[in-house]
Amino acid sequence: MDPYIEKVRTINEKLDASPLAHVHSYGCQLNVTDGEKLKGLLSKMGYGFTDVPEEADLVVLNTCAVRENAEDRVFGNLGFLKHYKEMKKDMIICISGCMTEQKNVVEKIRSSYKYVDIVIGTNAFDRFPGYVHEVLSGRKHVYDESGPGTGVSEGNEQIRSSSFKASVPIMYGCNNFCTYCIVPYVRGRERSRKAEDILDEVRGLVADGYREIMLLGQNVNSYGNDLEDGIKFPELLRRINAIEGDFIIRFMSSHPKDAGKDLIDALADCEKAGHFLHLPVQSGSNSVLERMNRRYTAEKYLEIIDYAKSRCPDFTFSTDILIGFPDETDEEFEDTLKLIEKVRYSNIYSFIYSKRTGTKAALLEDRTPYSAKQERMQKLLELQRRITTEDYRKYIGKTLKVLVDGPGKGGEGTLTGKSSEFIIVNFKGDSSLTGQFVNVKITAARNWAVEGEQV
Ligand code: SAH
Ligand code: SF4
Ligand code: F3S
Repeated sequence: MDPYIEKVRTINEKLDASPLAHVHSYGCQLNVTDGEKLKGLLSKMGYGFTDVPEEADLVVLNTCAVRENAEDRVFGNLGFLKHYKEMKKDMIICISGCMTEQKNVVEKIRSSYKYVDIVIGTNAFDRFPGYVHEVLSGRKHVYDESGPGTGVSEGNEQIRSSSFKASVPIMYGCNNFCTYCIVPYVRGRERSRKAEDILDEVRGLVADGYREIMLLGQNVNSYGNDLEDGIKFPELLRRINAIEGDFIIRFMSSHPKDAGKDLIDALADCEKAGHFLHLPVQSGSNSVLERMNRRYTAEKYLEIIDYAKSRCPDFTFSTDILIGFPDETDEEFEDTLKLIEKVRYSNIYSFIYSKRTGTKAALLEDRTPYSAKQERMQKLLELQRRITTEDYRKYIGKTLKVLVDGPGKGGEGTLTGKSSEFIIVNFKGDSSLTGQFVNVKITAARNWAVEGEQV
């Protein structure tokens, strides 16, 4: 064990009450997992936890850099923390995660947010206890700018926020350099965890009663490419599917350029994964896809979709769409709408392009006004609303297996959960069913959700 964990613990044990930490993660599931690992370390160092930042002795903002508004929120929250720290002088403030892997952000913190004590990046678990110790021992600032690293650190215990849904990173980093995206710069190059480590973790989680296993990677389809004699993702899916127990397998994200028939075949065969695939397309226009460096065409993308539908007619898909890439024309955007009509997604996550300093697209001229991008977003949402309202009707009369998330918006006695197709299902039932699988017979389709009765 890291000697600094013991040292911090010894300091904390001398206090009248155990100190409290507040960890807030922004961004994707992978980052949330990192936040849970930082909590694991803090717990070993003798910290308890609070949801209220002003009560905390140590605050970690675990940041996301994917869009400008994510960064703005962090700087906004840093403003609040300044006031809290004025009232509570010993409060330790730590900024971690993707934002801090950008030189300009660290510079800004160094010059304008001097009350931040620790700045660490996306892969500093082994150094974090030492930094907390340094600050407790009187050092004013620690800025770790050693970069996202190249390794895979195993054995970090997590304090998970859910007792039935677990995220399991299978790889870190990204090699794809889509021209709009900051992730490869802040997360480093692809590196895969050993299959045995992943399988052990999943076995442990299933034994602990976890019902949803979410496998994470920026492109799970390149899992294992960096391992000698490593198995590839479809085989990993099959091995996880073979683990005994009642659980569902989900995964994010899958890059279309590497999504082959072997992936679809594995999904068709693995009953725990279901006939569902999140396949981010970003755009339906070949010229935009080329400018984005996505390395597939709309036709190639539709081939995968068609193959899946031909293997299993009930196959459903969701996707990410990036609206308003520099100089995207109306015609190019219309191509995206056409593709959406062809695929008929069960769900779309759409984002307006945000310029990220350091990426290739940041150098491109962008003559499309923001208002036009917002209009495109509205058009897309309207189209998708029509598709889901039409398509969700086909579930009426069918029984879906639903993992219950908890109480629904309808107040007491209502529950909400997600089906294996990742569709929101609302129904009546007791909150004691939270975290369990329930069969629900669908009786009605609403916008973005279906309703039913427990059978
Ligand atoms: N690795 C995943 C995506 C991770 S980022 C993949 O390739 O599918 C999640 C989503 O954020 C992306 O799919 C994209 O739609 C969106 N995104 C990434 N960079 C963005 C940017 N600069 N502006 C707006 N949205 C962005
Ligand atoms: Fe970003 Fe592209 Fe990598 Fe996804 S695949 S993280 S969009 S660079
Ligand atoms: Fe954001 Fe980093 Fe995830 S940029 S989306 S938190 S990998």
